[in-house]
Amino acid sequence: ARDADADRYEIVQRQATVEILPGLRTPIWGYQGTFPGPTIESRSGRTAVVRHRNELPVPTVVHLHGGRTPPESDGYATDLVLPADAAYPTHSHSGHASMHDPAAVITRGEREYVYPLRQRASTLWYHDHRMDFTGPAVYRGLAGFHLVRDDEEDALPLPHGERELPLLITDRAFAADGSLRYPSIDPSLTTVPGVEEAYLEGVLGDVILVNGAPWPVAEVSATRHRLRVLNGSNARRYDLALDPPPPDGRSFTQIGSDQGLLDVPRGHEHVPIAPAERYDLVVDFGAYPVGTEVTLVNRLGTGSTARVMRFRVARRGAEDSHVPDRLGELEPLDRAQAAVTREFSFRGGLVGDRHGWAIDGRPYSPTRIDARPRLGDVEIWRFVADLHHPIHLHLVHFHVLSRGGREPGPHDAGRKDTVDLRPGEAVEVIARFDGYRGRYMFHCHNSEHEDMGMMANFETV
Ligand code: C2O
Ligand code: CU
Ligand code: CU
Repeated sequence: ARDADADRYEIVQRQATVEILPGLRTPIWGYQGTFPGPTIESRSGRTAVVRHRNELPVPTVVHLHGGRTPPESDGYATDLVLPADAAYPTHSHSGHASMHDPAAVITRGEREYVYPLRQRASTLWYHDHRMDFTGPAVYRGLAGFHLVRDDEEDALPLPHGERELPLLITDRAFAADGSLRYPSIDPSLTTVPGVEEAYLEGVLGDVILVNGAPWPVAEVSATRHRLRVLNGSNARRYDLALDPPPPDGRSFTQIGSDQGLLDVPRGHEHVPIAPAERYDLVVDFGAYPVGTEVTLVNRLGTGSTARVMRFRVARRGAEDSHVPDRLGELEPLDRAQAAVTREFSFRGGLVGDRHGWAIDGRPYSPTRIDARPRLGDVEIWRFVADLHHPIHLHLVHFHVLSRGGREPGPHDAGRKDTVDLRPGEAVEVIARFDGYRGRYMFHCHNSEHEDMGMMANFETV
């Protein structure tokens, strides 16, 4: 009965050639051959079953970021889907010593991922998560939205339909022939001076893409719009604002974070967003005269990376939405509930004989479990960082409890699954570890840091 109740999707991961920059052809790896992949929309509490078929030349792993997912469908980094192509050897993936993971469940050609989605409405996304290879795979295009809706949110008079815009923001670098330029993962293949350095910090591009298009222009009516902003970049952080700002100076009314609606809306002049974070923002284009061009700018960028996209306020429109004073119900969590406090450091340094990134000085190993929270317990996790690291936990959703020894900042509101640590800063988060028993990853979501070892496991027991 449960199966009949599930929504089923089939996605083929394949190579394709698309036009991203005018007149140039760019080979990508895409879900259904597109970048971003198709947007999946689900109802909270209704199971989505997504069958992925791998027609790419490399093994893949699919993770639903922000999903409360049983471990066998979470896209564990060694649960490979080998290429469907029978010529691909079954054992080439195990050449890498660290790939030896007795718990790995490896399939050939395809795999069914089952998402019960017992969680609130939220902006989730799916992307590749293969061990040591997430950065290059996502960079080539393996990412897409998975939106979850529920009755609580649908009952609110928020902008909807064509006034709701999911915006996947990424940066990419292109070679002269239009192909994507990603520093080689193998330093012995690196011929471009400085590229290994670039790789170490995380790979950046000089072209900003929104939903796969460079600096696009969206025509909007002079009404409120809901922007579901996702930073899907490998390593770039943005600080978003509108230029010109609306008369009250507040570019955005934030209604949601990584994990759905806030309790109450919050106004922001600007919004900093690290890789994998989401902000659900309402912009009132009715505050601008028809004909205005409003640029979504990146205050952390220079030159080509200082702009993200533009909105052309093209026409009047009948306003049919507003932002209510109360949004969602969030279970508050406080210190007194915590069974355990754990601490993890996120730092660069020597990992073996090479510079890399590590958690508590140890590079990722699939077989080492660094924390065993009891299912249902509330825990405080304290993170300390040397540089910027956006830290993501699978399975659980947390609140930011403190930042730099003080109250959480203005952008830390709501329930989240990714939190950006700033250089030298300590951040505490609090979460209830419920849902499913099993092994899950937590890691830096700078994809190159992740691939270079800044990842670890916890196991709910
Ligand atoms: Cu968005 Cu473990 O990843
Ligand atoms: Cu995730
Ligand atoms: Cu990092």
